[in-house]
Amino acid sequence: MNRFKDKIVVVVGAGSIGPGWGNGKAAAVLYAREGARVFAADVNLEAARETQEIIRGEGGACEVGTVDVTSEDSILALFDQVFAATDRIDVLHNNVGLTRPGATVDVSAKDWDDIFAINLRSMFLTCRTVLPAMIEAGSGAIVNISSISSMRWLGSPMASYEASKAGVTQFTRAIALEHASRGIRANVVTPGLMDTPTIVAPYSAIAGAAQMDEVRRRRAEAVPMGRMGDAWDIAHAALFLASDHARYITGQELIVDGGITRMVGFKPR
Ligand SMILES: NC(=O)c1ccc[n+]([C@@H]2O[C@H](COP(=O)([O-])OP(=O)(O)OC[C@H]3O[C@@H](n4cnc5c(N)ncnc54)[C@H](O)[C@@H]3O)[C@@H](O)[C@H]2O)c1
Repeated sequence: MNRFKDKIVVVVGAGSIGPGWGNGKAAAVLYAREGARVFAADVNLEAARETQEIIRGEGGACEVGTVDVTSEDSILALFDQVFAATDRIDVLHNNVGLTRPGATVDVSAKDWDDIFAINLRSMFLTCRTVLPAMIEAGSGAIVNISSISSMRWLGSPMASYEASKAGVTQFTRAIALEHASRGIRANVVTPGLMDTPTIVAPYSAIAGAAQMDEVRRRRAEAVPMGRMGDAWDIAHAALFLASDHARYITGQELIVDGGITRMVGFKPR
């Protein structure tokens, strides 16, 4: 369909934390399939290169960059690199987000700050860096990835994740309204229980690595649709919000969760 033909798209967190398809990797590949020139940024350069190889293997355009989103200098360096190669950014897609499960009484102040730095401060910094160019261009779209943990308890303690993701959602609404009259849109994709490589570490920590099949079964059972979503479900939602088809949509949240947040009496895994 070429919805992103000639568009410059930066995906932050464009690799995958393990083998398979993470949300950011799938989004980067889909933007490229739709004609975008993609900048795939990640703290793990190898993971970004894997995404680049897939895109180039399909005939798409992709450059890579290293960034640690917890470091302001690193973010500034990434966008210096992008702006050295192009004069504008049409889409900023912020995918990085991590959880560190644990009872609140056991969470150190440093752990709390770390999760907020990775999940929320990072998005403030990338948006703050890119917005001036979008303002100058009079156009741009931002997609930030949140979580249904921003809206509700999901059965295991991870208050820092929940609070930081609630921050992502409201931060996005705030910048959407701040820039609505300047041709810039900002929206959130809110994933539910997804089957991506990123769930393996936290749930192995909670339930034990040998229990991952059981964790997957219980997560699937908890969803009204009877299955977890995958990275492509999140990527398609993000592409819609970033595309001109969503040109009148800003400050909104697209919940991609197989119905969980609309279910009465949801029993978490
Ligand atoms: N999978 C789920 O069930 C689920 C549910 C709700 C929300 N989410 C959200 O989806 C997003 C992650 O999706 P994913 O599957 O692509 O995750 P992922 O864990 O595979 O992460 C994507 C990339 O982020 C990179 N990254 C990690 N820390 C970084 C840092 N400090 N700087 C730069 N890059 C860094 C990783 O190297 C990885 O390649 C997160 O925002 C997460 O909160 C996922």
